[in-house]
Amino acid sequence: MLPQFGPLRPWTDPCVVGVHRLPLHVPLNGLDRRSLDGRWRLEMFESPDRVPVSALTGDDRQSSEVSVPGNWTMQDLGAFHDPPHYTNIQMPFEGPPPSLPERNPTGVYRKRFRIPAAWRSGRTILHVGGAESVHLVYLNGKAVGYGTDSRLPSEYDLTDALVGGWNELAIVVVKYSAQSYLEDQDQWWMGGLHRSVWIESRPMTCLADLPITTDYDPEAETGTIEVTAAVDFGGPTEPGWSIKVTTRDPTGRKIGSSLTAPVDAQHRIPYLFTGFAASVRQFLVNGQPVWIFGVNRHDHHPDRGKAVTRDDQLDDLIAMRQHNITAIRTAHYPNDESFYDQCDELGFYVVAEANIEAHAYNRSLCHDGRYRSAWLERGSRMVQWLRNHPAIIQWSLGNESGYGANVDALAAWIRHADPTRPLHYEDGIRDHGWVDGARMSTDIVCPMYSTIDEIVAYGQSGEGDRPLIMCEYSHAMGNSNGSLADYWDAFDSTPGLQGGFVWEWKDHGLRQIEPDGSSRLAYGGQFGDTPHDGNFVADGIMSAELVPHPGARELAWVYRPVALHDRGDGEVEIANRQSFSDLSWLTARCELLDRTGEVVRTWRWRPPSLKGRESAVVSISDLVGAELPADGWLTIRWLTRRDTWYASAGHLVAWDQVVIGDPNGSVAMADGMPVPIAPELMIWRAPVDNDGFKLMPELAEALGVGGQVLAGWQAAQILDRPADSLVDHDYLIDDESVHRHSVMIPSELAEVGRVGVRFSLPAKWTSMRWFGRGPHENYPDRCCSALMGIWERDLDDLPYLVPQEFGLRTECRWLELLGADSDEVIRIEAVDNSLHMSVTRYRDEDLLAAAHQSDLESRDELIVHLDVAHRGVGTASCGPDVGDQYRIEPGRYSFGYRVISIRDDSSTG
Ligand code: GAL
Repeated sequence: MLPQFGPLRPWTDPCVVGVHRLPLHVPLNGLDRRSLDGRWRLEMFESPDRVPVSALTGDDRQSSEVSVPGNWTMQDLGAFHDPPHYTNIQMPFEGPPPSLPERNPTGVYRKRFRIPAAWRSGRTILHVGGAESVHLVYLNGKAVGYGTDSRLPSEYDLTDALVGGWNELAIVVVKYSAQSYLEDQDQWWMGGLHRSVWIESRPMTCLADLPITTDYDPEAETGTIEVTAAVDFGGPTEPGWSIKVTTRDPTGRKIGSSLTAPVDAQHRIPYLFTGFAASVRQFLVNGQPVWIFGVNRHDHHPDRGKAVTRDDQLDDLIAMRQHNITAIRTAHYPNDESFYDQCDELGFYVVAEANIEAHAYNRSLCHDGRYRSAWLERGSRMVQWLRNHPAIIQWSLGNESGYGANVDALAAWIRHADPTRPLHYEDGIRDHGWVDGARMSTDIVCPMYSTIDEIVAYGQSGEGDRPLIMCEYSHAMGNSNGSLADYWDAFDSTPGLQGGFVWEWKDHGLRQIEPDGSSRLAYGGQFGDTPHDGNFVADGIMSAELVPHPGARELAWVYRPVALHDRGDGEVEIANRQSFSDLSWLTARCELLDRTGEVVRTWRWRPPSLKGRESAVVSISDLVGAELPADGWLTIRWLTRRDTWYASAGHLVAWDQVVIGDPNGSVAMADGMPVPIAPELMIWRAPVDNDGFKLMPELAEALGVGGQVLAGWQAAQILDRPADSLVDHDYLIDDESVHRHSVMIPSELAEVGRVGVRFSLPAKWTSMRWFGRGPHENYPDRCCSALMGIWERDLDDLPYLVPQEFGLRTECRWLELLGADSDEVIRIEAVDNSLHMSVTRYRDEDLLAAAHQSDLESRDELIVHLDVAHRGVGTASCGPDVGDQYRIEPGRYSFGYRVISIRDDSSTG
């Protein structure tokens, strides 16, 4: 049994949040520090009760060698089996709180170190960056302390347990604890020391904390910085100490003069004693309303799990900035210190969230006194640690943990300790109303997944006095993010709405080596983990490997810092959506397209000079400065002028297109030989995640969550029966070789996925050129970022982890297939009206049947879809379904097209 702690079993008691743990403080640099990162011995046990004393020192034949930082769930443990486990709301084991499963993987990490002679006169402190879920520290077999909260550092004073020469450090990490009930986030359950571990030497009298409070008066354009230096007297207190504060800018240049203040050491008159601290004041500068162009970010790496490196974080930040993302909610816990340092330096707004999610027991633990200390400790320690980061604009009290006294207690603590930052807590307003709910705990109305109507009603009613920023919206699971632009129309035009955070940045796929040696990105259940919530963990706008999903283009577009709005009267408005910068870092390039999609003119445009949040109205003829085509499009692209930290010069930042005249309708038909095809009427699509959870129908049914149309399609046998047997369909080929279809969708089949045809062609073509919206995949409710034009690219690969509908290009006039060995080109022309088109290497049935990308095999044919109507993608996997204007109504649909073979002279179109 573990010495000292073993009989007490603190991991089973929610009230015990730490034993002999030092108070947390803002990161203090400049101390003599030795990293203990690297290879550690790790011995695994079935439960903390089974760890023998001998595991803490001495013989370590049973152990493996692993990396720290690292999750043991992502490393080789030899015969011990403990893979990652994914659940969303449900706990991975039976409750009720605080009960724990019998099998509770426990790792004893061991590392030896010596301390330099110079450290003997001071104290030696151990810093444990993050351990999932709780940990016990032993030095040379002696108990040192116990710590909770997987996502915050814990520090311990090792001095009394040190010996001369080699010291044997053991950190026992227990995977599940009473605290796990507050760490029930929608993510993989891991285990181990996933952040850095170090020891450092502190002089007997040293700085213990250095909180800085800033304030700003926008009218006077002045601000204050208040620095409080807390001093730790490791030995007896001594009068006569003082603190000297010097302020420097990021380049190291001194600002103003240094200030000195004495340290209060009068604790012998306790009533007057204010703590061993000194405070100074100094004036400085900054203010403005801002848009929240945000995403929710988890710590995730496909190989390292939660043990993300500084470079992993930077990769995320670079890709975010390339997509115009300026705000991050650290869902749903504090990240490593280096993340905030980088956000400070690179200029991101951060909502810092406490590691509190009691989702499975959402309505009880927030009132439960046994968990009160844990609530307070998690939130207050976060503030004590992170308060000096200017990037942090709000404190979040956690996620989905109900609203009770524990929440308000934490709110009160933070409000008092840091009155400068607003509080954010979604569950407060969820059950208690947006206008007045939970004022104690949230200064922001921060709902998740509300409809556009709901948020607009809040803004328009004028009843609320708190700004609305959606803490989660536009759930990016699979082919998703429908109506992003509609959300932004609402944010832009409704008072009190300031944007939000898309759910979420990355899929949480984990690399898994399959028996045949190949690898894939796995989701819940694929490690044999049970119970699990399948691919609900793959809901990022980026893949786990940081490859943007097509929706990321739409996100970059809605978050663009400069926008051009067509006023419909021959004029456009140029709006600078930034708060503090002008447009001088961008070059504007314009392009005029005629009604055939050909570019007839390109030029560089000098925009009016606009400061932050200013806009200007410009006439289109002035902007073009030459004769306009009767019908066509004007495109404007904003590119960076210089190399930046996130992209080389010429990076595309913003783009817009304005319609001139009426360029809609078909374009002149090309001559060529008709190609024989066998078109098949199609009224369904391979369901996207938002249509319904094909892999988890029980979950959808039991909880009533997710999209419901898939269940409707199945009930109506739409996926099994030929469409011709379900709807009236007239079809003929006219004298000009035009295939003409007329389809009647009856009211009982409303909500179908598409109305169109599909046919197959030989597999020999490898790329496509088209005149329609592009270049990226787009759908009727996710196409604002896709411009009309003539585009060319290779046939798409499936961009989503779970096979589903993909690859559509809306409003196509024609599409050509290229790249066969010969110069033969197949050209498909929409007649009368444009059609939505896709060409892939899979049949819808293949996509429907497959559970993972790795199950799919390319066909030896190309599958072409031509749709006169295609249902929007919406966000119903978690949020509103497809908007009414993007659904397929009952009624008659008529359309026509030709398929011809022509020679490639590369000038077609
Ligand atoms: C929210 C939750 C997130 C995530 C999301 C769905 O309710 O806060 O953690 O689960 O739903 O993916």
